[in-house]
Amino acid sequence: MARLLQRVTRRLQRAKLHYGHGTERALDDAAALIWHALRLPQLPAAPVLRRAVSARQQAAVASLVERRIRERVPVVYLTHRCWFAGLELYVDERVLIPRSPLAELIELGFAPWIEAGRVRRVLDMGTGSGCIAIACARVFPRARVDALDISADALEVARRNIRRHRLGGRVRALQSDHFGALGGESYDIIVSNPPYVGQREMAALPPEYRHEPVGALAAGSDGLASVRVILRQAARFLRPSGLLVVEVGDAERRVRRSFPRLPFTWLEFARGGGGVFLLTREQLSEGQQA
Ligand SMILES: C[S@@+](CC[C@H](N)C(=O)[O-])C[C@H]1O[C@@H](n2cnc3c(N)ncnc32)[C@H](O)[C@@H]1O
Repeated sequence: MARLLQRVTRRLQRAKLHYGHGTERALDDAAALIWHALRLPQLPAAPVLRRAVSARQQAAVASLVERRIRERVPVVYLTHRCWFAGLELYVDERVLIPRSPLAELIELGFAPWIEAGRVRRVLDMGTGSGCIAIACARVFPRARVDALDISADALEVARRNIRRHRLGGRVRALQSDHFGALGGESYDIIVSNPPYVGQREMAALPPEYRHEPVGALAAGSDGLASVRVILRQAARFLRPSGLLVVEVGDAERRVRRSFPRLPFTWLEFARGGGGVFLLTREQLSEGQQA
C-alpha cells in the first residue's frame, strides 16, 4: 500500500492538477482515492500502509486516478466524502465542494460577535450541500436553522446530509430565490457563501471548477449579483443586533468599492482564507440610509 500511495502521488504530481477543492496536494488526493477504492473507513494510519493491495483493488485505484487526471474531476466528486467543521458530508456534482473559511467561525460559535446562548434562529442563504446549516445546528443546539437554496438538486443533497446528521427536527431545507419564499421570518444570524465569481473570472477558472454547478459560482458580470440582493434585503430578516456574515472571497475589493457607506468588518481566520464580512442589522440599515 505504501508503494501504491507513492506511485499514485507521483503520477498526480506529474499531471499538474489544480487543488483547493477539499484537498490541497497530490498526496491528499492519492490517499483519498486509494482509501475510497479499498473501501477503508478511516484516513491513513501506519498499520494500514503495510497492507497488501490485490490486483482488483489496484485496477479500481487506477480507474479513479485516470478520471482525476483526464477529466480533471476534483477528488471529492469521485469519493463523495468530505469534511466541514469536523462533520462528514456526502457531496456530488449537484453541489459546490465545501471549503469555506466560515467553518472556523462556526466552530467558534461566531464568537466574539454574538452570545451563543441567544441564538435561536439561523438562515443559511445558498446552502448547497447543507454544510454551513448543519454545522450551525451542531454549534447552536437550541437553534432552528433554515437551509435555503434556489437549486432543487442542491436541496436533495442538503436533505441527505441533514438526515445523516439526524437534524431533520431543527434544520429545514427550503427552495427559494434569495429571500423570496420567506414570510415574516427573522433570524439572529444570516450566514451565506453565495456565488461571487464574475464573468471574466469564470472563463479563467481551472478545469476542476467546470465540474461544480455554474449557479454555485457565477453571479453576473461583476460577480456581485447575489451579494447585492443579500445586502439590500437581509436587514428585514434580522432580529435586533442580528448578524449578517457573508463570504465574498476574491470579490472583497469590488464589494468595498461598490458599497462605500457600509461599515464592513472583514474577518481574519487562523486557518487561512478571507474575504468574509460581518455587519449587524443596525449597521446594514444605517449604511443603506446614509
Ligand atoms: C458558493 S455555493 C455555496 C454552497 C455552500 N453553502 C458551501 O459553502 O459550500 C452557492 C449556493 O448558492 C445557491 N444560489 C445561487 N443563487 C441563489 C439564489 N438566487 N437564491 C438562493 N440560493 C442561490 C447555489 O445553488 C449554491 O448552492
